[in-house]
Amino acid sequence: MKLLGKIAREFSGYNILESGKRLLDRKPLQCSLYVTDRCNLDCAYCTEYDNSRPHPSLDDLKKWVRKIRELGTMRIALVGGEPLTHPNIVELVRYCRELGFATSLTTNGFLLTRDLVAQLEDAGLQVIQISVDRMTPSPITKKSFKTILPKLDYFRDSKICLHITGVICADTLPESRAVLETGLARGIPTEVRLVHADPLNRFRVERGPREELERFIDSMIERKRRGGKIHTSEAILKYQRSLLRGEHVEWTCMAGYKLFFVSAQGKFWICSMVHTDKHIMDVTLDDLYANYRKKSCQEGCGVYCAVNASLLVDKPIAVLGKEILARAKRLPSIVSRSSDSQINNSTRGGVTNPNGAHKMNGSTEGGPSADEGVTLRESA
Ligand SMILES: C[S@@+](CC[C@H](N)C(=O)[O-])C[C@H]1O[C@@H](n2cnc3c(N)ncnc32)[C@H](O)[C@@H]1O
Ligand code: SF4
Ligand code: SF4
Repeated sequence: MKLLGKIAREFSGYNILESGKRLLDRKPLQCSLYVTDRCNLDCAYCTEYDNSRPHPSLDDLKKWVRKIRELGTMRIALVGGEPLTHPNIVELVRYCRELGFATSLTTNGFLLTRDLVAQLEDAGLQVIQISVDRMTPSPITKKSFKTILPKLDYFRDSKICLHITGVICADTLPESRAVLETGLARGIPTEVRLVHADPLNRFRVERGPREELERFIDSMIERKRRGGKIHTSEAILKYQRSLLRGEHVEWTCMAGYKLFFVSAQGKFWICSMVHTDKHIMDVTLDDLYANYRKKSCQEGCGVYCAVNASLLVDKPIAVLGKEILARAKRLPSIVSRSSDSQINNSTRGGVTNPNGAHKMNGSTEGGPSADEGVTLRESA
C-alpha cells in the first residue's frame, strides 16, 4: 500500500465526517444485532448464549435489519451467541452491506475457515473481532491462541480489518499480557478488558486481584499513549481503572438511543444487560430519544461499547483528540516501514518477523473497528 494510503487508513477508523453526523442529530449510530442465541462454546463468564433457542430465519433477520436501517442507524455489529453458527451469515452480511451499513462481526473464531473468510470478504464484511482470552484453553474459556493463531493467516491478504479482544478475569489474568503481546506483535489491534457482571449484577467468575488488574490497565494506558495499537480508547481504559478503584465516573448513558441492541427474537434491547419486550418493528425515533438520560444502572456498568459511544457523543473533542494523537505517534513507524519495504521490495508477499509472525493486510495499519466506525457505502 502506498504511504499516503497507509497514513489515511491509520486515521480512517473514526470516519469523522460520517460519525460526526450522528453526534449532531437524533438518529442512532450503531445497532448490535444478535444473529443467534446459539453458541458452539460455553465460556463460564458469559450470559449471552442459549442453545435451547432456534436460529432466527434469514427473512426475519432481513426484516429487522431493514427497520434498523430505516431508523437511520449507520453501523451494524453482528453478534450472538456465535454468529458463525447461523447458516445464512454470509447472506446476512451481504444484505447489511447492500443496505449501506458499515458492518462488523464478533466471533470466537472457532468456525473460521479460509473459504469462509473469503466469502465474508466477498459479501463486504469490513471488520471482524475475534475473541481470544488465553494462550491455552482452560475450564473457564476455550477461546485461546492455541486454536486461533493458525487462523490468523486467513487474514493475511484480506480486506477485512481484524482485531482481537480478550476478557480479563482471575483465570485469564496470568496469560492476558501474553494475549495482548501476541496480537500486537503481529500488528493486530488488540484489547483485553475486565470481565463484567451479569444482568443481575453478579460476577460469574472471579475477577482477579485488584492491584494487579490496576497495574495492567495502567500499563495499557501508557502503551496506548506511546502509540501502541491497543484497540480501545484511553477513555475506556481510564473508565475501567475507575471501576476497579470504585471511583464515580460522570457520564450519561446513550444506550437505547445512540446505540441499541436487537435480540435474536427481534426484541429491542437498551443494551446487552437491559432488555425490553418491545419488538424492533414497533420502535420509533421518539422511543429511542426517550432513552437519552442518565440510568440507574450506570454505576459499575460493564457494557464498554455503550460507555465508549456515550463518552464519544458526550465529549467528542476530548475522546477523538486523544485517539488522533495516539495514532499520530504511529506515523514515524509507518513511514519507516514503508521505506524499508520499498528498499526490500523483492522480499514482499509475506512479511515475516524474526519470531515467525507475519503482518496481515487490513490489520497492520490500524484499520477501522466495530467500536470506531467504518467506511459507509452511502449515508444513512
Ligand atoms: C457474547 S460474545 C458473542 C460473540 C462470540 N460468541 C464471541 O465470543 O466473540 C461477544 C463478546 O462479549 C464478551 N463477553 C461475554 N461475556 C462477557 C463478560 N461477562 N465480561 C466481559 N466480556 C464478555 C466475549 O468475550 C466476546 O468478546
Ligand atoms: S463464545 Fe461468545 S457467546 Fe459463546 S459462550 Fe463464549 S462469549 Fe458467550
Ligand atoms: S448504564 Fe450500562 S447497563 Fe445501564 S443501560 Fe447503559 S449500557 Fe446498559
